[in-house]
Amino acid sequence: MTQSSNFLEACKYIVGGVNSPVRSFKGLDLNPIFIDYGHGPYLFSTDCKQYLDFCLSWGSLILGHTHPVVIDAVKKVLLKGTSFGMPTVLETQMAKTICTIMPSIELIRFVNSGTEAVMTAIKLARAFTKREKILKFDGCYHGHYDPMLVSAGSGVSELPKANSSGIDIATISKTLSIPFNDIEALEKVIFENKSSLAALIIEPVPANMGVIIPKNGYLKAIRELTEKYKIVLIFDEVITGFRLGLNGAQGMFNIKPDLTCLGKIIGGGFPVGAVGGRKDIMLQLAPVGTVYQAGTLSGNPVAMAAGLATINYLKDNPDIYSRLEKIVKNFVDEWKLKFDLTINAIGSMFTIFYTQKPVENFFHSQTQDFDLFKNIFIKLIEKGIFLPPSMYETAFISTEHTKNDLDKLISLFSTFFKRKKIIHIRYTSMLQEQCGISEETVYTDALNVAELFDELCKKYSFRFGCGMFKVIINDKMQSLTSKLQDGDIVTFLPPIGGG
Ligand SMILES: Cc1ncc(COP(=O)(O)O)c(C=O)c1O
Repeated sequence: MTQSSNFLEACKYIVGGVNSPVRSFKGLDLNPIFIDYGHGPYLFSTDCKQYLDFCLSWGSLILGHTHPVVIDAVKKVLLKGTSFGMPTVLETQMAKTICTIMPSIELIRFVNSGTEAVMTAIKLARAFTKREKILKFDGCYHGHYDPMLVSAGSGVSELPKANSSGIDIATISKTLSIPFNDIEALEKVIFENKSSLAALIIEPVPANMGVIIPKNGYLKAIRELTEKYKIVLIFDEVITGFRLGLNGAQGMFNIKPDLTCLGKIIGGGFPVGAVGGRKDIMLQLAPVGTVYQAGTLSGNPVAMAAGLATINYLKDNPDIYSRLEKIVKNFVDEWKLKFDLTINAIGSMFTIFYTQKPVENFFHSQTQDFDLFKNIFIKLIEKGIFLPPSMYETAFISTEHTKNDLDKLISLFSTFFKRKKIIHIRYTSMLQEQCGISEETVYTDALNVAELFDELCKKYSFRFGCGMFKVIINDKMQSLTSKLQDGDIVTFLPPIGGG
């Protein structure tokens, strides 16, 4: 079956043809790719195409697809049974392993997804503090738990409104959301709500608005303020846990949160989540305490075995993290020499942003050029490269990726941008009135100013005839506009007979 017939058939029975929105390739004029199998760094589709996978089940597969260590561990437990609804020793081994590796986690509870972990962490914080408000950050995504669907990143950011519908207003009225990396906004909101804030939840390194690097001292300020006002600090490390090192982002930035949410990597590709942290907070969970949380498949033996095998492999080969980081760092250095598009990276995670400006928060990420992203995503798919199908997501590498794989990405982008130059155009008020936009990025093949104007005239003659615009010159395009100064106002002439 072709991918389009796979998708049409799926749409008959599954809402939107997919079981999670970002898989649908919505707005990309492509059918989702139906996968047959994965191996190492590759995905293989049902129509026999091979894709170099930089999505890796949204960051879950740090050891790549079908790593023998994981497959062997799963095979062993599968033969004993798939679920018992009773405790297994595997759960204790897994809990002990995580508690030993992550010093902030004194006690842990396994659940089935990152969303469940977040839901439980927030319930615990509210019970512990006897307060109700939760502070989060614009563009951070914490799963589909109602109070977290406010100014959220990932797939939520692609909804027409920032929030999901179907949510009781009272539920989200207790959620406050502020821009990431803004210390003043942080201090203000905490000070104004200090006696009603139960928790501050944060992706310490956000990955759901693309990778965002926390500014120097930002996470430290968060820890100090939450400590001062007795607000439970929840690190959502569903992506960064065991990705940015064995002790996650908290190890990398040397911050000890009160609670941590985990998922993805700790399931080795199986559905899992976990919440863990300070003993006094965790002990409120039933059956010891009065915060109710339960799950038929929680601590599932197959998921525990896959997760434990993954974590033990990472623990036994700690150089993995520096190796992956080095591959990404070389790639980023090369990228910066060759391209103007912004790239953010940390450890084995990176995001190419379709803008030339720095990206430090959700607002910056939202100013990306979607058409450019779409154009490039489609070309990459044609060339067998699978980057996450959204501009708000993060790309990952696994232990199975090599420098060559990232070189491939560079060389493909080089062909896309061959002779292409990027310029910003800021329209004068006259054109602004006519076309409703004040600024735009243009990709051009033009080799000189005359050609550039000619190209622009062809592109815009139908929309607004003639007018004026102001060119903002980027240092890499000096040769293109050698006769122009940054900020020059130039007359925009229509092509002869155009308009
Ligand atoms: C940081 C973060 N928290 C929570 C979640 C929710 O996890 P799940 O999809 O397993 O419910 C995600 C999912 O991508 C995530 O990235």
